[in-house]
Amino acid sequence: MCGIFGCVGLDESVKAVLSGLRRLEYRGYDSAGVCTFSNDKIIFEKQVGKISTLDEATEKKGMKGNKLALAHTRWATHGKPTKENAHPHLDEKNTLALVHNGIIENHEVLRRDLKAKGVKFLSDTDSEVIAHLIAKDFEEDLLGAVQRSLPLLEGSFAIGVIHEKEPNTIIAFCKDAPLAVGMNEGVTYLSSDPNAFPSEVKNVVFLSNGEIARLQAGVLELFDGDLTPIQRESLIIERHDQVFSKGDYEHYTLKEIDEQPMAIRNALFNRTHYDFGTATLEGLNLSIHELLEVERVLILGCGTSYHAGIIGAMMIEELARVPTQIEIASEYRYSNPIVLPGTLVIAISQSGETADTVAAVRELKTKGAPVLWIGNVQGSTLAREADGALFLRAGPEIGVCSTKAFTNQVVVLSLFALMMGRMRHLSRDEGKAFLDCLMRLPDEVQTILDRKGDIAKLAKKYAKYDNFFFLGRRYMYPVSLEAALKLKEISYINANGYPAGELKHGPIALINESCPTVAFTTNQTTFPKMKSNLQEVKARHGLVLAVSSVDHRALDGVADDLIQVPQTIDPLASVLASVAGQLLAYYIALERGANIDQPRNLAKAVTVE
Ligand code: G6P
Repeated sequence: MCGIFGCVGLDESVKAVLSGLRRLEYRGYDSAGVCTFSNDKIIFEKQVGKISTLDEATEKKGMKGNKLALAHTRWATHGKPTKENAHPHLDEKNTLALVHNGIIENHEVLRRDLKAKGVKFLSDTDSEVIAHLIAKDFEEDLLGAVQRSLPLLEGSFAIGVIHEKEPNTIIAFCKDAPLAVGMNEGVTYLSSDPNAFPSEVKNVVFLSNGEIARLQAGVLELFDGDLTPIQRESLIIERHDQVFSKGDYEHYTLKEIDEQPMAIRNALFNRTHYDFGTATLEGLNLSIHELLEVERVLILGCGTSYHAGIIGAMMIEELARVPTQIEIASEYRYSNPIVLPGTLVIAISQSGETADTVAAVRELKTKGAPVLWIGNVQGSTLAREADGALFLRAGPEIGVCSTKAFTNQVVVLSLFALMMGRMRHLSRDEGKAFLDCLMRLPDEVQTILDRKGDIAKLAKKYAKYDNFFFLGRRYMYPVSLEAALKLKEISYINANGYPAGELKHGPIALINESCPTVAFTTNQTTFPKMKSNLQEVKARHGLVLAVSSVDHRALDGVADDLIQVPQTIDPLASVLASVAGQLLAYYIALERGANIDQPRNLAKAVTVE
């Protein structure tokens, strides 16, 4: 998986593609490469590490790019992050260069066949196989060679290819992986994500599955698998000139944690109807009648979005009394799902690009279920493929670990749950009471942020431990999962999120003085039970750091340390407790000197299954 960015028709094309590539770094950042032409020969540069390293290397070489350049940022699937495995991959004579996003599932067989024909491989990647296949098939034109090779390839993938015989052309193809072409004043761009195009590019064409594109300066031609030309109107996409700047912050992650009050206000803006104690949600694309006919909800997501989904499922059941199932997308898609009539699917994905979530959505759509996407990135695959969309309005999230997108997911889900509840049994006063709490949320989050120095001090004490438990009950259980994930992602500490009541059924064996427990105690209905569970931890010499909204004396004897958060109703307490969890993970990671914004081995959006 990875990001592809190319351009034809610009003098300094290398600079342009590297700048586009930086906006694709969320798709992977373990190595990067770029190719272009010099004296009609392909030249390339690859580097392990961030795009900034590649930038320096091309600068040093004086590699400017002559009208055309094609670049790639990688997240390793097949083969370690090395220079050899970085893209572009070339054929043996360096006549062809290829960049690839996705997985070629039958690459081993193809590699064996090619090796038997004498082809020497330089990398361990599945991608290199494609480069050799196309090069072997090249007779007169690159388009034909690509088209003839495609039927041999199995899997989901997008490619960009250039050949020395056609120095003004990029050929692109995609199957179950996104590719967009953008055009502006004689320049044609290719990208895995249209949001990476320069801001002046407004006209965008999305390649559909199985289509081949030929890009030349200011010209795009589209073909189907038989090379029959296809006409496609370009879409005008809304471009938000996003400012990617850390400002005075050392890390995007902390900046984004701090942006949460504003992000939540944005998520609520114009979506509440206080007099009626309900929410009005644009973009649902479902009539009131259809919403009333929803008998069950199925929520899908991966990673942090899955955790928001668990909270959402609880809220929908509690507020609207609509049975709600929550599933991990990567597992669900292979379950041959039973989709009963009256099911509404909610796919949660910040990026709208997570391959497992996209695949699960496609499977569910074939079963006829309407799909609502809750996400952040306009123009993304799920934004285009879902039947309705609820935007998070969190603003760009650059830090790889999700913070403000998560809290906005919970907020948007709470609005949806409220609206569904009001359409059913929830009274206007109950709706208003819920909204009162919801509107207080930004200020309450701010209160926690204002006291982040206290959490930073606690982090100094807790940063030395290598194993953690995160415990909670009811709404605090998914909060525990999410807080543990944050710690794992950015500080590389082994952390287990667990339902507190389950601890005694096995994991309690791990509790000792060197394995602290972070306890989320702010679910009022389960507080007494939670307290007993913590007593069990204390009895085994476990250190307890409690996130609490009650008078600290209530936890005397069970908590060694406290993070105080404001008190609110149980569903929304999940937001406040999560902010405390984010800050704890951030400051522990800071103490341990980890790469917080771009942790090792991760990508912001995982676009392979
Ligand atoms: C990756 C990211 C996680 C994220 C997950 C789902 O694994 O590292 O932070 O939660 O993908 O991403 P999505 O864009 O679908 O919400």
